[in-house]
Amino acid sequence: MPVQIIVGAQWGDEGKGKIVDHLSEEIDIVARYQGGANAGHTVVVPVKGPNGVTNKEYVLHLIPSGIFHRHVTCVIGNGVVLDPAALMTEIEQLRQLGVKIEGRLLISHNAHLIMPYHKLLDNIREQSDQKIGTTGRGIGPAYIDKYMRTGIRVVDLLDRDVLCKKLKRNIEEKNQFLSRVYNSKELDVDAIINEYQEFDKKIDEYVTDTSAFLNAALQKKKKILAEGAQGALLDVDHGTYPFVTSSSPTSGGACTGLGIPPTSITSIVGVAKAYSTRVGNGPFPTEQENDIGERLRTTGGEYGATTGRPRRCGWLDLVSLRYSIRVNGIQKIAMTKLDVLDAFDEIKVCVAYRINGKRVTDFPTDVQALQRIEPEYRVLKGWKAKSSGVRSYGKLPVRARNYIETVARLLKTRIWMVSVGARRDQTLMVR
Ligand code: GDP
Ligand code: IMO
Ligand code: MG
Repeated sequence: MPVQIIVGAQWGDEGKGKIVDHLSEEIDIVARYQGGANAGHTVVVPVKGPNGVTNKEYVLHLIPSGIFHRHVTCVIGNGVVLDPAALMTEIEQLRQLGVKIEGRLLISHNAHLIMPYHKLLDNIREQSDQKIGTTGRGIGPAYIDKYMRTGIRVVDLLDRDVLCKKLKRNIEEKNQFLSRVYNSKELDVDAIINEYQEFDKKIDEYVTDTSAFLNAALQKKKKILAEGAQGALLDVDHGTYPFVTSSSPTSGGACTGLGIPPTSITSIVGVAKAYSTRVGNGPFPTEQENDIGERLRTTGGEYGATTGRPRRCGWLDLVSLRYSIRVNGIQKIAMTKLDVLDAFDEIKVCVAYRINGKRVTDFPTDVQALQRIEPEYRVLKGWKAKSSGVRSYGKLPVRARNYIETVARLLKTRIWMVSVGARRDQTLMVR
């Protein structure tokens, strides 16, 4: 199993962090391939203290979710847009928790850097009528510069002259734009240069050619897990454009974002919640803007791990999930947060859409069509029993298993793993 890809199969926050941490026990390398500090991957780990073992929750934004397993090397790939300030904060927090980072974290020399002006531009745009509800982490503007070929990469930090030249040119250009379009105050070139030159010293020990590292690891038959951020429906090509992120969370992004060949991929796992959530604007066919949505939000703790925003909640949408399985090539599903449905009398799953009275089972990606959708639901009886204490699949209530097996059948895809709580031991393998 050289490379296993873990993708979010919905609109992000499916519980990828938990699943990656769980799988990392048997993995050598965990590598993030896209996105940036817009991600918030929650991992709950047992920590030994004077009063015994307690479970602690950590939210990772840039560092791969394998970091809590000492034997795992973590890689930030070339496809990631790296905010050095956010990275330094994250490294410091992990160090304080006693997590060893030295020798275990590698950063691609080709990853692009998020600059203060990217965050500024992101936030200014979010105040306009083109707002899409971004995380405000500068992601879109950083990828714009990457594809404009004016971006500054990690490798540029290591050469002061190059860094100064590129930064000056970029800041002058952004200043012109900011004053012309937004009448905004100018960015201070020297302050930014000084701040970023400091990162050079701090980041140097981690920087390497991660593509070469990963390909050498493949030769040695090391087990690699490629960790996606966000989800397929937020993919810039395959998601609900323009309400998407600016990178490729789908499985194809793993090869370009890490510099590994498609032939090295042996397994693709999609992580999906037992219901649906979305943060930010954009179509969400099964959204429940009512008591049900509120109940899912409260029971599931559905508040953004990065921005704290309440997540929009709704029933599981098998039409979009089938589409996600297709564009990612998902072979098996890790279904999370089953426990959140424990107390519902009945649970709905969307099996088809109706657009202008016509029944549709293929996911339309144009926003106009998606906004006119009426979901067609199949109603299943709830199991009305606590699942969070269950430790083997066979011990789940019959109706809970029926829910999982119905979903698998309708998706024509295997459900491989079921999560019934945020902790490591709340993970059931489906046999
Ligand atoms: P990610 O971005 O895909 O890694 O997901 P997030 O960390 O943003 O959001 C998932 C949330 O659900 C986190 O608070 C997790 O701790 C929590 N979580 C993960 N799996 C389960 C589960 O099976 N049950 C419950 N109740 N919570 C879970
Ligand atoms: P993880 O990895 C959920 C959403 C934002 C917004 C859109 C674009 O934790 O699943 P961006 O800041 O990327 O330009 O925002 O994408 N978004 C996420 N939603 N989980 C995430 O990450 C997200 N990252 C971005 O809310 O709608
Ligand atoms: Mg998240």
